[in-house]
Amino acid sequence: MLARDSSQISRNDIVIDEICSLNWRNLSADDMTAVAWAYYYFSIQFRENLRIACASRPDDPALKLLLAEECDTSNLSPYPGIAEAGEKMNHDEFMRRALKLKQLPAETRWRFSRAGSNYLSAVKNVPTHIRGQSMASYEDGGLERVFEAMLTAPHHDDPLLNAFRFFLAEHIRFDSDPVAGHGNLSRHLGDDDKISELWRLFLQLLIEATPSLSHQAREERIHAAS
Ligand SMILES: [Fe+2]
Ligand SMILES: [Fe+2]
Repeated sequence: MLARDSSQISRNDIVIDEICSLNWRNLSADDMTAVAWAYYYFSIQFRENLRIACASRPDDPALKLLLAEECDTSNLSPYPGIAEAGEKMNHDEFMRRALKLKQLPAETRWRFSRAGSNYLSAVKNVPTHIRGQSMASYEDGGLERVFEAMLTAPHHDDPLLNAFRFFLAEHIRFDSDPVAGHGNLSRHLGDDDKISELWRLFLQLLIEATPSLSHQAREERIHAAS
């Protein structure tokens, strides 16, 4: 990853930094399960935004390739309990199937679904062209940094969290290749500070689903227990 000097730090970077500095290193298995649910909803808007970008540039070969690699791909297949060998799918479908690997109380599922639906409704209020342009910020280093931060969480060995960890590690590889990587396929859309609104909504979703991500919440819990 390239070092950034302070003059290059955009509003997007500020929110991404905030996400990366959340309390990833102290998450329990339940917390990480909540993160996987939050990420599933993020992945729905990611697919929608990519389709918006493709619709705005129907003859763009790089975006066509990116769409194929995110929405009609076997690049995560096979995976036990989720994808057969060679099976093509959207990456949000991979996450949807991963979530089914872990039974949760109905009340917990309802809480995650409500947070996710509220997030997706808020995303719909972001101007369409900014949603399309977000692919450059997501794929050209933004998500790579977020995934690296997520991978600093302690690993808890269960089928869902193993699949989510595999998903994150593979995505760092997909996005970062200097030639064939997803960053290289989307960079030409250009960055825009207004994309920070989408990053901010993701930050809010993560904290709503996983309050332990907030350092303040953790300190209050420790204080209450002492
Ligand atoms: Fe993906
Ligand atoms: Fe990607």
